[in-house]
Amino acid sequence: MAGQKAEAGGGQGRTGIGLTALDEEYREDLYRVLDEMRAADPVHRDRELGRVFLTRHDDVRAVLRDKGLHVDPRHALPDSYVRLITGVPAGSEDQFSPSMIFADEPDHKRLRGLVSQAFNPRAVETMRPRIEAIAAELLDAMEGRDETDLIAAFAAPLPTMVIAEMLGVPLDRRDDFKRWSDDVVLGFDPVASAETKSRIQASGEAMRQFFRDMIAARRKALGTDLISDLIRAEEEGKGLDNEEIVSMCTLLLTAGNVTTTDLIGNGVNALIEHPAELAKLAANPALIGNAIEEMLRYDSPVTDSGRLPHQEIVIGGCPVEAGRSISTSLAAANHDPAVYPDPHKFDIERADTHHQSFGGGTRMCLGAPLARLEAQIAIAQLVARFPGIGRGSKPGKRRHLPSFRGFETLPVRLRQ
Ligand code: HEM
Repeated sequence: MAGQKAEAGGGQGRTGIGLTALDEEYREDLYRVLDEMRAADPVHRDRELGRVFLTRHDDVRAVLRDKGLHVDPRHALPDSYVRLITGVPAGSEDQFSPSMIFADEPDHKRLRGLVSQAFNPRAVETMRPRIEAIAAELLDAMEGRDETDLIAAFAAPLPTMVIAEMLGVPLDRRDDFKRWSDDVVLGFDPVASAETKSRIQASGEAMRQFFRDMIAARRKALGTDLISDLIRAEEEGKGLDNEEIVSMCTLLLTAGNVTTTDLIGNGVNALIEHPAELAKLAANPALIGNAIEEMLRYDSPVTDSGRLPHQEIVIGGCPVEAGRSISTSLAAANHDPAVYPDPHKFDIERADTHHQSFGGGTRMCLGAPLARLEAQIAIAQLVARFPGIGRGSKPGKRRHLPSFRGFETLPVRLRQ
């Protein structure tokens, strides 16, 4: 499906894959396309992919925070988007057992509660020295090169190494982790081919088996890692079973990989496109916290999230029937001129950088504090080491994965 073009231009007429990263114009000119959508059809009924697509900041924000909305695909209409991306066709509901990300209450709260402490800002802060060491090690390996692919050399390995350490799994399998998690997120393609589906299935199963073996070994000698904590919770009778521990590990490994890679890649790309902002950051490293928030707003790694009503609701005067997927465009919300002055300007000193990039409400991204810390350390160290970083000799290549936005490759020149 890569490189497909939508039948019509922006605004009215654009629908289906034209509202996903499979479409070239959407990928390459995302914010113009979303501006046109927001102006012409802000509560868009996408009949091709069975969803309602929201682009206004206030609608997106309200839907994400609405506790009356759900996510479990088993309650969706047969043709709804969430069934496509979770691979739960009507009639196959009994074979689906959701991880936290697609679980409704009370399971969602139970599962999230088991790991929320490990991901709170204070706990994550204890990872700082290790993240700094990992970033420095990757940057050391880049020394002596004039040009490199920032994704392969830096943005991709860093989050994989960090989450592997948190889970307490051996780093020598990191190429496998990367491959498995890259394959598993391909599930977010609503029109994945049969070949891709079997790749997703094979990598998902390989990853699950890896964690089953890991958990069995860890049971014999518990440590201070997250897998050991989950085993303890199970043994203390906190209502968790072995397969749920496996699902939790695979979710954590996949949810934090592509996303954090893309935050680093998109953020560095924005700096390279705006040399005055890069110079500002190089001169004043204390701006890094605000700069990362602006990077999240300006070019969000996750472009849309979703919810599901169990009863008919009305959004912006448009009725949405029970069981219909609602896609909230985080990227469109973050560029809504009704909320942000000069929304397409990249300004690392922007006064109000609040954004929807981590979703919201009770389902807001669990890994947000970790992603923020990783990106702050990674980009601060990169800019300190290579303040003259610039565009490489070849252009970057955007990834074609719906709901995500990042680079497959981002060649950079390391020195002027
Ligand atoms: C820049 C990096 C990241 C971005 C942009 C991001 C974005 C998101 C978004 C948009 C959601 C859905 C929220 C909603 O619908 O309200 C989400 C959920 C989630 N994220 Fe992240 N994420 C990132 C990194 C991470 C990391 C590092 C981890 C963990 C290792 C993680 C774990 C999760 C989990 C477990 C959920 C499900 C939460 C729930 O359903 O309660 N994410 N993330």
